[in-house]
Amino acid sequence: MRVLALAAVVLLSACPTTEEPEPLDPNAPKYYSDIQPILQTHCVRCHYADGLGLGDFTDPDVVVGLAGAIVGEVEAGRMPPPASDPECRDYAGSAQLVLPEADKAVFREWRDGGAQLGDPADAVEGNFVETELADADTDFLMLEPYTPVYDDPALPGNEYRCFVLENTAPQTFFITGLSPIIDAQEIAHHIVVSRIDANDGDIPAHDPAEGFECADFNILSGLLGAWAPGMLPIEMPEGYGMRVSPDQNIIMQMHYFDSNPGTDYADQSGYAFRTEPEVDKEMLMIPIGSFDWTIPAGDDSFSHHESYSPTGLGFPVDVDIFGVFPHMHVLGKAWDYWVEHEGGKETCLSQSDVYDFNNQMTYMWNDKVRVGADDQLHFECTWNNSTSNPDRVVDPPQDTSWGEGTDSEMCFFFTYGAAASD
Ligand code: HEC
Repeated sequence: MRVLALAAVVLLSACPTTEEPEPLDPNAPKYYSDIQPILQTHCVRCHYADGLGLGDFTDPDVVVGLAGAIVGEVEAGRMPPPASDPECRDYAGSAQLVLPEADKAVFREWRDGGAQLGDPADAVEGNFVETELADADTDFLMLEPYTPVYDDPALPGNEYRCFVLENTAPQTFFITGLSPIIDAQEIAHHIVVSRIDANDGDIPAHDPAEGFECADFNILSGLLGAWAPGMLPIEMPEGYGMRVSPDQNIIMQMHYFDSNPGTDYADQSGYAFRTEPEVDKEMLMIPIGSFDWTIPAGDDSFSHHESYSPTGLGFPVDVDIFGVFPHMHVLGKAWDYWVEHEGGKETCLSQSDVYDFNNQMTYMWNDKVRVGADDQLHFECTWNNSTSNPDRVVDPPQDTSWGEGTDSEMCFFFTYGAAASD
């Protein structure tokens, strides 16, 4: 009986089906007219041949093959990577960094309609974002290509390497815009760029072409900017710039990530600056943060809140603030940053329910925010120090406090600010 039944099933399925495949809905979204423009606006700056994102999204066949995965990632809110909520405060590039709900529906309807390509003649172009500064005038490049070796047992597959890039300018200059020059896209995970005194005693003796291992090196005091894949160039508002004196060099901390184990990539990245010999106002990147907390092992949502007045930050007067780079390490889960004005009114500065260590961004707001000497700047970091956090590097979870290494944590809101002016 059993054998017979089985044979019948085999026979049935071997029979050529007489049923026609269901015709595809001609009104469903198509790749060329509906999907390509969304990808170009929101995805291809990371998903291109050799980019850090998986797959070349400029190739229609690749995109069709990934239709299911794309819908899954988009609906889960993992792609594009989470960014500060523009409803809190809008910032440069938010239209490209945040995917509108309507576009998520288009992806879904496209997949459900059979992921059709449509007609190339109907192709619609998206709004590409410039990831490079168009009018840079000064480049600082690593002296020679460097091939990471990933030999720190505490950080498998990761390497933090600092390169001191010599400043040969005879006079002080001011940086009014900056963007990185990325060479090996496959392994450039993120970059922090700072100024450092040429005779800074903390810099270990090293071959300038090779740089030095610097997972635990404090690069943050002269901070100029930070970059992660997909981030846009940082531009100061008109009349503002960050000072670099002739006795300072540029230091660049490269975080390399072994995205393709077994393949060596040599990297010679750098930074491009737009500079001016003078500016009206000196911009600072103010390291607002706190150090005094311990995240309990196993806690999947531990928050720390603190506040400062501008006077507490060393500003004798009101401050104008222009943007922020929120920074935690791999336990980071969410952040909130706001001003409490005299009288209790609050202004949201930057907020996200999801923090992604692999996708740290600097947000330059569309409008500056005045923080009065009697106002308070509030910030809150939330961490996930439990096994449900896949980015954790310490296993099992341990009580975690402030430190430079990736196995320690931070809670910083590096804020572009300047003494107030009208
Ligand atoms: C800021 C860079 C960046 C942007 C922008 C981006 N991605 Fe990604 N994406 C990545 C990286 C990096 C990965 C590799 C997986 C990881 O590390 O999360 C990835 C992985 C994926 C995956 C594969 C997930 C898997 O492993 O199965 C899909 C699908 C995807 N992205 C879709 C999209 C779509 C659709 C968009 C635009 C709406 C987008 N991504 C925008 C960087 C990006």
